[in-house]
Amino acid sequence: MSKSIQIIKEDSKYLMQSFKRWYPLVIDHAKGSIIYDVDGKEYIDMNSGIGVMALGHGNEKIINAIKEQMSNFFHYSLTDFYYELAVDVAKKLTSFLPFSSKVFYTNSGTESVEAAMKIARWYTKRQYIIGFINSFHGRTLGSLGLTSSKTVQRRGFSPLLPSTLLLPYPDSRNPLLKDDPVNRLMEYIEDWIFEKVVDPNEVAAIFFEPIQGEGGVIIPPEDFVKELRRVTYKHGILLVVDEVQTGIGRTGKMFGFENFDIMPDIICLAKALGGGLPLGAVVGRSEIMTLPLGSHANTFGGNPLALAASKVVLEEVPKLLDRVNYLGKEIIDELNNSKSPYVYDVRGKGLMIGVELRKNGKAFVDGLERVLMCSFNRGVLPIGAGESVVRLLPPLVIEEELANKGTRVIREEIDKLR
Ligand SMILES: Cc1ncc(COP(=O)(O)O)c(C=O)c1O
Repeated sequence: MSKSIQIIKEDSKYLMQSFKRWYPLVIDHAKGSIIYDVDGKEYIDMNSGIGVMALGHGNEKIINAIKEQMSNFFHYSLTDFYYELAVDVAKKLTSFLPFSSKVFYTNSGTESVEAAMKIARWYTKRQYIIGFINSFHGRTLGSLGLTSSKTVQRRGFSPLLPSTLLLPYPDSRNPLLKDDPVNRLMEYIEDWIFEKVVDPNEVAAIFFEPIQGEGGVIIPPEDFVKELRRVTYKHGILLVVDEVQTGIGRTGKMFGFENFDIMPDIICLAKALGGGLPLGAVVGRSEIMTLPLGSHANTFGGNPLALAASKVVLEEVPKLLDRVNYLGKEIIDELNNSKSPYVYDVRGKGLMIGVELRKNGKAFVDGLERVLMCSFNRGVLPIGAGESVVRLLPPLVIEEELANKGTRVIREEIDKLR
């Protein structure tokens, strides 16, 4: 029995199996954009541990920063004490925004979303929170009220947060929005939701992924994002962008919202922010970040080791943006070379890319599973999204040759689908 199979058997015995692995990869170690499994096989990392390892694995600058911080101190709760690193990273993060802003540190994406919900309710003194169908905002009981990319995420866990509403995302594949998704959706929001369901003066915030990641790499029309911003300003509703996946350079801009020429009120971050260590953040306009003393905190948020790594990430990622855009275009071009009749769409921004597979007008779910499994067998690690989207989120530093090789394998496996 291979070591991988042995570990997978024990995993199913000792760990709750509430999450699905796409293929039986048991990682031993990693360097750059190469993963090595416990049986000595090599793989090209085309997902960065789900969008986290932006600077690749074993990045020397990150390792040195963590080592240095380790010899100073590992932890001393920011909720009760002070340290300079927390200020340094917040200064750097807020420097990317053209408005005065403040930071609250968390440990994960879902925790950033939870904090943003509380901040929005407190600041506006309003109760309702609106999200979009097919979004993913996390799995704790507050954020789950907004998460809706698969019913299994919500099934059996109700009641969820009261006063949350979900609207359709501006996706022209939604039969109700066919042909003119932006205008139909805006009419629906203004003339139906705000006239018949909830007074907009009771809405604290609209939460929005600039590109739906888990939902299938769905990019909204630019007009829609601008309209949403207009309507939120009109009614004093906060616009919260969930940049947990799109943020920190992933889409070829520092933040995903920059692709749409709008400014949000609050930004939720995690994943790539900590360079592989658990770190999330809420960054919001200074006048909004006003939760009162004692009302919100956590023990580990802003962990010094994670912040040391984050400082490197925030210094290095801005230098990579041109290459992220260039490589992303190359990958999309190669995927567009596919002759497969099952490729419904290839889309993406920067290095957040999806290939949607459809068969007979429906999601080609088996096709996705086959492409992922066969790519894995050939040493390449894409992941899935939505019902049948092959998702690519390689490290932002991936070598061009590796990115091309990995993409070619994925494209060939798509072409083999029958
Ligand atoms: C957009 C978005 N928001 C929130 C989350 C939740 O993050 P976490 O798994 O760190 O709680 C994710 C995770 O994939 C995400 O993609």
